[in-house]
This record gives sequence, structure tokens and C-alpha cells, in this order.
Amino acid sequence: MYIFHISDIHFSADDLPGQKNLERIIDSINHQHVRPDMVVITGDLIWKQHNEYYAPCFAALQKLPAPYLVITGNHDTSAGLIDALAAFAPHHPRPQMENFLQYEYDDASFPVRFLALDTCKTGCGGGNLDARRLQWLEARLSDSAADKPAVILLHQYTLPTGSGFFDSHAAGWYRDFNDLVSRYRQNIALILCGHLHNSLHSEINGIPLISGFSTNWSEELLNQANKDPGRDLLRPLAYLIHRIDDSRQLTTYTVTVR
Ligand SMILES: [Fe+2]
Repeated sequence: MYIFHISDIHFSADDLPGQKNLERIIDSINHQHVRPDMVVITGDLIWKQHNEYYAPCFAALQKLPAPYLVITGNHDTSAGLIDALAAFAPHHPRPQMENFLQYEYDDASFPVRFLALDTCKTGCGGGNLDARRLQWLEARLSDSAADKPAVILLHQYTLPTGSGFFDSHAAGWYRDFNDLVSRYRQNIALILCGHLHNSLHSEINGIPLISGFSTNWSEELLNQANKDPGRDLLRPLAYLIHRIDDSRQLTTYTVTVR
């Protein structure tokens, strides 16, 4: 299967360059030689919790050629995104826990199932995954009826990045999450996240951990300052295609957009 991975749209009504960039990404996705089986959007759909931006954001996403899964980022609100999905994306999975957009999505034709996590904590870049949300994840990872490995979706990259700004976001739950997935590594194919605006690859106890590019702007790589590095457009727009074959071998392509 082909999982197309975009992230950090940061839709804003007055950000016309950002809207144009999203259109260019979606146009490229529509012109690929392979069609997505699923598009994943790993959080920060809007800018600074302005829930009114969900309507135009989802209007733009209607041009995607495949179903998509979204998760919350630190610029989203759980309640706002849940309401927006009900209003503008009626076929999207509904939340499976109270107040948070956590859900499992399984399609019989896919070699993997998706587990989407909600790390929202209002106004906090590092977010949170409290005991209740972690228990939800553990219940699904330990589900003996599940016959395929999971692709976990969450917004934050839970390992050090080398960026002083993003590493300053690191929260206590990162270790709890890393410990939990390490215990269930046999049941996890891949962990996909966003937040960094660039694509970093690492692993947690052998599980691939990959962040997706922002559709909007890149962030300065490896900046050592503990401050917001701001927008850096030194690299071209890009997105990822994760190919998982029937033996569950993963290959990730980076597609740049002119
Ligand atoms: Fe973020």
C-alpha cells in the first residue's frame, strides 16, 4: 500500500502563500504515477487554534484523490477538529475516546492498521499524552484479536532532534510513549509524526520513527538556539510516500514539488 504523508498545513485566512503551497502539494499528489491508498496528515491543520480556519482547510483537502486521516497538533484544538470532521469530513473516523481525537482505523485490504493519537494540550508545543490516552494506546497494541501491525500517528517527534527549539518542547510523556511502544515493538510497523516541518528519520527500539514535511514552510535545521527559528524556505516543498509491501517491508520516498 501507499501512504502519502503530509503535515503542518497551518491554514490561515491571510496566509495566501501557504494556501498556494498546499494547492501545489495536492496537485502533485494528483499527478503521481501511483495513487494513495491513504493520505495521513500529522497535525497542525490550522494556525494558533483558530477553529474558523478548519472550514477552508477541509475545502482545500477535498481535492485529495484518496481518503485521509488527520490527527491533532499543538496548533489544533481537539474539540474544534472533532467538530470540523463531523461537519466537513463525514467519512472520517470518529473519536473513540471522550474529548480526544483518538481512533483506530482498519481496512481489510491494508497490511497495517492505523492508531491515531491526540497529544493536544492547549498552548503547549510539547503537548501531552496523559495516562488515559496512553492506556487507550496500550489496549489496542495488546489486542490479541488484531492480526496486523499498527502504524501509529502522533504529532510530536518523541526523540531528540538536534534543534534547540524543538528539543526545548520535549515533554515527560515522550519517555512514557517511547517505553510503551518499545514493549510492543512486534505489533508496530511504523510511527509517523509531524511538528518539525522537516523529515527526520530515526527509530525507537527498532521501530521506524519518521516526521513528515510541512506543506507550508520549512524550519531551520539543527539550529542550536532555544527560540523559534522562524520560517526558512531554503528547501523546496516536499511530501513523503511510504510504501509498505505485503511482507511489510517499508520504503519511504521523498517527493519534491517545483
Ligand atoms: Fe506542531
